[in-house]
Amino acid sequence: MKRKLLPVDRFFRIQERNGRSVTYGDIRLKTGYSAVAPAAAQLDSRFTRHVSLKIPIASAAMDDVTEAPMAIAMAKSGGIGVIHCSMPVSRQAQEVARVKFHLQPRIANPITVRDADTVGEILAKRKRKRWKFHSFLVLDESGNFVGLLTRKNFKLCMNPNLTARDIMLPVAHVITAPEKTSMERALALMQQHGVDLLPLMRRKTTLAGMYAAEDIKRIMTGSQAQFNLDSDGRLRVAAAVNTDESDLDRAEALVQQHVDVLVIEKAHGDSYPEHVFLKMLRRRHTSIDIVAGNISEPDSCRRLIREGADAVKVGQGPGSICSTRVVSGIGAPQATAVYNCSRAAQGSGVPIIADGGIVNPGDIPVALGCGADSVMVGGVLAGTKETPGDIIKRNGQQFKRYRGMGSLSAMRDRKASRRRYQQDHTPISQLVPEGVESIVPYKGRVKRVLVQFMGGLRSGMSYCGTRTIADLHRKADFHFNTPSGVREGHPHDVLITEIPPNYQVGR
Ligand code: XMP
Repeated sequence: MKRKLLPVDRFFRIQERNGRSVTYGDIRLKTGYSAVAPAAAQLDSRFTRHVSLKIPIASAAMDDVTEAPMAIAMAKSGGIGVIHCSMPVSRQAQEVARVKFHLQPRIANPITVRDADTVGEILAKRKRKRWKFHSFLVLDESGNFVGLLTRKNFKLCMNPNLTARDIMLPVAHVITAPEKTSMERALALMQQHGVDLLPLMRRKTTLAGMYAAEDIKRIMTGSQAQFNLDSDGRLRVAAAVNTDESDLDRAEALVQQHVDVLVIEKAHGDSYPEHVFLKMLRRRHTSIDIVAGNISEPDSCRRLIREGADAVKVGQGPGSICSTRVVSGIGAPQATAVYNCSRAAQGSGVPIIADGGIVNPGDIPVALGCGADSVMVGGVLAGTKETPGDIIKRNGQQFKRYRGMGSLSAMRDRKASRRRYQQDHTPISQLVPEGVESIVPYKGRVKRVLVQFMGGLRSGMSYCGTRTIADLHRKADFHFNTPSGVREGHPHDVLITEIPPNYQVGR
């Protein structure tokens, strides 16, 4: 059956007929009747086939953008960070582990007592160690889990010389669950049985961890309800790999640390090395989502989906630090690239990540209106507290470094950068950079930046009368902007006396 044309399809058909490819600054969304207040806009989306987002934004896999602190901040805001691969495998795996262990709904090594310990001894130890909790798992002398002590057991005990075994709830009456139980399942079990602790068992008698209802509640409610979590209640994180054979071992090390998504970093995703690598990676890791890219043409998108990509990253040269298009003469303006690729992916269930070129908050609703499911940003987050690197002081102002992964310095420093541009066998003196090294003003915390960018997205969705990103995909329509239209859209003909946090003069 023929698919019904959406307003966005008609708009891009006209552009194509006129031989015009457009980027974010060239187009603006049409407004319409709206019963959606900005606060009612729902920003949840998908990063890959199986990994969701609470806000549609990811931080770029760049050595001046994403290591563990950025990935933690992104996941806590509801997005995801992609840890760059310009570092040894062991360090990258450690960065992933730092994110995964940042929140610990599952207590891996719960404090235990021995069945022969007396109540007096246990309470004295509790006081000495300043433990706040009253519940203890009880092991026998062979290390087998034999029972549970709770606050109630201590309360009812009149004789401190009784042992843990005398007053505990024996294992036969304790609600337990298998080692691999997810956080959601654990909470459901605890609610069903009215218990607030859930010991996790490996085989019948070996303790493999524990869930506490309080910890799960803390993670799932309040400000933490916004966190982007995996099914075990850990922050979600992605990590980059290149396409060398050794990157299969890198991927293995990342998977062992429970990375949620592997992102293949290649300036030209529709290239022989990436196809070969994607196929091998897919074969080895059937249950982890893989992002392939970067590309900018619909046929490339189709090919990567066919090879098994779980999301496709679109963007060749739109980035703030990119010189690829100037150096090599390639590349589609980003809005057209995103639209064309989103149409190529349609029906496959594979989300599109619009990578690079986001400058102002309004670029995000435009990118999503073109068909992207999320955006990836480097420059927007560069200069924040959570990025790697120190603050640089110049003329009394604070800056941080932000360099392209294809800049001369990144390529000189890192094999991963040379490999991204297929120059890993090129002598250093003959490297051809495709990016620049820059500094950007220090911006403070990531959260501050995201509040403005997500506020802009909410506002855009409200103007369009769209409650969800799926609505925006369905309803989005655009005006083509003339140069005067672009000028009109910025503050003009005034002397700005106060620059707001979401506006930069000259952008
Ligand atoms: P923004 O615009 O957010 O772009 O700063 C970030 C994205 O740019 C890509 N990237 C590069 N592209 N030369 C390029 O052509 C480079 O040196 C370079 N470094 C990063 C990358 O996809 C990133 O997510």
